[in-house]
Amino acid sequence: LETPLIAPSVLSADFSRMAEEVAAVERAGADWLHLDVMDGHFVPNLSMGPQLIKALRPKSKLPFDVHLMIAPVDPYIEAFAKAGADHIHLHVEAGPHTHRSLQHVRDHGVKPGVAICPATPPEAVGEVLDLVDMILVMTVNPGFGGQKFLTSQLRKIETLRRMADATGRDIRIGVDGGINPQTAPLAVAAGADMLVAGTAVYGQDDYAAAIRNLRTGTHN
Ligand code: DX5
Ligand code: ZN
Repeated sequence: LETPLIAPSVLSADFSRMAEEVAAVERAGADWLHLDVMDGHFVPNLSMGPQLIKALRPKSKLPFDVHLMIAPVDPYIEAFAKAGADHIHLHVEAGPHTHRSLQHVRDHGVKPGVAICPATPPEAVGEVLDLVDMILVMTVNPGFGGQKFLTSQLRKIETLRRMADATGRDIRIGVDGGINPQTAPLAVAAGADMLVAGTAVYGQDDYAAAIRNLRTGTHN
């Protein structure tokens, strides 16, 4: 797969036509499908649960990249694994036992990722890097699509890239929030190899062109 990988977030899709919206980004060249799960507690919004993910699973061949913005997370890991998640990102801020939660994800045969909010320093994930396949760097405060990219997070992406490389393991760095053709090249230059995009894909008329523009970026 050609990097950066592009993972459209269905949070910005038309929920009344979800299966078609998922098929449309697959045809348009998406690499992964990003599914945002919100609990109205860890983040101030509600979105979807395992039932919708399970219903979409047979409709798509794309890897399902599930972003859990929920606390506690442990009681729900099995449900998302059974629903067909290929990757599960959980937040380092979601509780004191991120280490155990990431092991649970791995035990269920799902690739673990650790997500990190804008206010959290990169060192917060240092002790769990040996357990993860991915780091998901939030470049907005999680909870809503369509927010502005926080350029203050670029330095953190660079630091996490160095920390990830120092492990000697292949750890992907995803960036989530405010990605568009202007911000995508900044995230990639800082070390990202996966980009989540909600409004920059589903808010556009031509999904294929939108995905292409994220891969190449608009340099200005
Ligand atoms: C925010 C979610 C994002 C969101 C991104 O809490 O984690 O995945 O869908 O939306 P955009 O790309 O519009 O910022
Ligand atoms: Zn997300």
